[in-house]
Amino acid sequence: MKKPLTKTSPIGIFDSGIGGLTVAKAVMDALPNEDIIYFGDSARVPYGIKSQETVRNYSNQIARFLIQKGVKMIIIACNTASAAANDSVQHAAGKVPVLNMIDAGTYGAIRSGKKAIGVIGTLATIGSGAYEKSLKQADSSLIVKSKACPLLVPLAEEGWIDNEVALKTLDIYLNTFKSNGVEALILGCTHYPLFKTVIQDYFNGKKLDIIDSAEAVAASAKSKLELKQLLNNSDQPGVLNCYVSDRPQRFYELAERFLGRKPENVFVESLKD
Ligand code: DGL
Repeated sequence: MKKPLTKTSPIGIFDSGIGGLTVAKAVMDALPNEDIIYFGDSARVPYGIKSQETVRNYSNQIARFLIQKGVKMIIIACNTASAAANDSVQHAAGKVPVLNMIDAGTYGAIRSGKKAIGVIGTLATIGSGAYEKSLKQADSSLIVKSKACPLLVPLAEEGWIDNEVALKTLDIYLNTFKSNGVEALILGCTHYPLFKTVIQDYFNGKKLDIIDSAEAVAASAKSKLELKQLLNNSDQPGVLNCYVSDRPQRFYELAERFLGRKPENVFVESLKD
C-alpha cells in the first residue's frame, strides 16, 4: 500500500551506482533538513553502455522500490536513466513528482543565456539525443554540440581526476569545444562534477560556462517541494539512507569521493521484477 506524502517523507534519489551521490550531495546542501533514500544499482552499473530498454526496466524497478519506501519525490540522478526512463518512472511513481537531470541541465543552460551549448555524457545519453531534443524544445534557436566521454566514469571512480592520464583523456574529448563556438558546457553525467575544476582550468582563457546539472536539479527539487508545500520544516539535519544492489564494500569505499563524507547507513537490497 502506498504511504501518504507528508512534509517529513524522504526524497528518493537513484542512480546506476555511486555517481548519483554528487546529486545527493547537492540536494543535501540545498535542503539540509530533508531525509534522503538513495538507491545505487551497483550490481548492474554501468548503465551508460546499455540499451534504453534495459535501463528503463532497471529504473522502473528502482522507482517501485522507492515508492514503497514512501518517498515524496523521486530524483533520477543518473543522466543515462533520465534520458531513457523519465516517462516510465513517472508512470510508476503515480502522483509522486519525478525530476530528471536532462530537464535540470536544460534549465541551467537556458538560465545561462548562452546560445551555443555543449553537452558531454555517456554513450547512451549522447546517443539518445535527449539533451539536444530538450534544449531545442526549450529554445529552437540554440546550437547544440554533443560528445560522449565514456572513459571519464572509470577515471572518476579510480580517483584519477587530474593526473597525466585524466588530463590527456580530457584533452582528447574536450579539445573540440575549444574551437567550435560553444559558450556553455553541460556536465551530463553523474561523475563529471568531480572534474569541474580541472575542466574549468582546461578552458582557462576561453569564456565557457560550466553547467552542473546536480546543482540545477537540487534547486528545482527545492522549488517543487515549496510549491507542493512538502518541504520538511524540521530543524534537525536530514538522514541519508543508502541502498545498493551489490555488496556495499566498494560503494562504501568510493562514496566519500562523490559525497564529500562517508555515508553512515548503507544497506543491501536486491530488486525483483
Ligand atoms: N550514472 C551514469 C550517468 O549519469 C554514469 C555511470 C553509468 O554509466 O552507469 O549517466
